Amino acid sequence: MEDVYPYPVARIGLIGGGQLGRMMVKAAKRLGCTCVVLDPLQGSPAGQVAGHQIVGDYSDPGKLRELAESCDIVTFELEDIDTGTLIALEAEGHRIYPRPALLATIQDKYRQKVFLRDAGIPTSEFIDMPEPDARACAAFGYPLVQKARRGGYDGRGVVVMPDAGTFSGHLPVPSYIERFIEAEKELAVMVARNVGGECRAYPTVEMRFHERDNVLDFLLAPANVPAETARRAEALAVRTVEAMQGVGVFGIEMFLTADGELLVNEVAPRTHNSGHHTIEACVTDQFEQHLRAILGLPLGETRQLSPATMVNLLGEPGYEGRPVIAGLAAVLAISGVCVHVYGKAVTKPGRKMGHVTVIDETVEAACAKASRVKTLIRILGDKKL
Ligand SMILES: Nc1ncnc2c1ncn2[C@@H]1O[C@H](COP(=O)(O)OP(=O)(O)O)[C@@H](O)[C@H]1O
Ligand SMILES: [Mg+2]
Repeated sequence: MEDVYPYPVARIGLIGGGQLGRMMVKAAKRLGCTCVVLDPLQGSPAGQVAGHQIVGDYSDPGKLRELAESCDIVTFELEDIDTGTLIALEAEGHRIYPRPALLATIQDKYRQKVFLRDAGIPTSEFIDMPEPDARACAAFGYPLVQKARRGGYDGRGVVVMPDAGTFSGHLPVPSYIERFIEAEKELAVMVARNVGGECRAYPTVEMRFHERDNVLDFLLAPANVPAETARRAEALAVRTVEAMQGVGVFGIEMFLTADGELLVNEVAPRTHNSGHHTIEACVTDQFEQHLRAILGLPLGETRQLSPATMVNLLGEPGYEGRPVIAGLAAVLAISGVCVHVYGKAVTKPGRKMGHVTVIDETVEAACAKASRVKTLIRILGDKKL
């Protein structure tokens, strides 16, 4: 094929208008693409940047069709989409990546686990639990973790049950249960695979979670693990995406146990919170990489140019309404600090409102700065709760 592209290089239809979409739209513009965003919220974070938005639900068949018909290629930044409609649109010849059938497997966490197990990817032992069942839990054995099959994110579909006494806190939804893993660390690897099957991993990162609310506290890039462990994690992540024949960028979350074993926790068929630092710290960021992958362009270099850390900016407890950013100038005065504000019209306690990436000579130095950043910058709101 001749290496000649029209402008726009591609019209990209993006399902979901959140922060991941917003950062993808920016990358798309850089590559000479245009974007249309489908999101129920007029003026969504991604819609603002794209300039074109279809206001509608992610699962509205008519709106999904309108999106597909107004674009050259469709992709998504979230998982909870009606895959039936996407599969039908794909059968009519619309290009949709990652493939809707794969999204259907991944968005149902139980089906995802079955896939991983059947593909020989190490993952924690699990059994189906179509409805909450104390006897099934007892027979499986505590400690265990209950996970909702559909719709969970940021720990919202996950309940850790140390013993039978905690069963009462179960989620009243179709779910499965799995072994509680005593993890030494939680690692993540972003992997890109393009339509031609070319596959590249980013350096392994480490996720440190907040004890209480399960939201990512600090992201360490690269992970503080032996080089051999990082290489194994990257190889496992590549193997996982290749088993899925995935096209696009994927986030592979893993547990590292005390004896050095790696277990895949879950796979996100999209750009991921643990890849935000790639914007400043890597040659090619995860958002551009995703577009290269789905457009059949050569993948970019994943090499990391500088150690980095990333912290999410969450809506401060006690506030809602229009966001008020306190301490912005103070953190911008610190060298190596890069602030991202997502453009959400309203804040809520714990809502992801932005993130800060810090680059420095070492991850430790970056983390020390990030700790200061966390005490300085706060997302308040114009209404007190
Ligand atoms: N089997 C497990 N053993 C121990 N901790 C777990 C297990 N599964 C999940 N967790 C904890 O819960 C967090 C959220 O679970 P995860 O399956 O990744 O759901 P989410 O989609 O909300 O990210 C994980 O990052 C981890 O800290
Ligand atoms: Mg997770």
